[in-house]
Amino acid sequence: MKNRLTCIALAMGALYLGSTAWAGEPADSRTRTMAANCSYCHGPDGKSRGAIPSLAGLEKGYFVQQMKDFQSGARPAVVMQKHALGYNDEEIEKLATWFAAIK
Ligand code: HEC
Repeated sequence: MKNRLTCIALAMGALYLGSTAWAGEPADSRTRTMAANCSYCHGPDGKSRGAIPSLAGLEKGYFVQQMKDFQSGARPAVVMQKHALGYNDEEIEKLATWFAAIK
């Protein structure tokens, strides 16, 4: 009986550990999904093969500033203004970190 309880406790502990290990995962995959929305124009992993600028390796501060300037219209760009308006500050921050980390 005691053994069985220990067993259940261990299993629950494993479940608990398992779920905390996963806690960081959804946020990460969300950033990945957001970043994938950019790849159609900016290339896979933000590495452009055409005239559109690459996002990979852009300095974080610069990236955030460009997104804000697109939002406000300070940097006029019809397509990017629409895109930029779809993301809040926190999401822009995550995208900036994501692309800055790509070498
Ligand atoms: C439909 C095509 C398209 C998509 C999709 C797109 N962009 Fe852009 N993006 C552009 C174009 C075109 C430019 C150049 C704008 C200009 O300078 O006139 C640009 C420029 C930028 C710049 C400025 C780069 C620099 O070097 O100054 C950033 C930052 C940027 N995009 C971020 C994003 C992010 C983040 C996403 C996804 C959430 C995204 N873009 C999705 C077309 C696109």
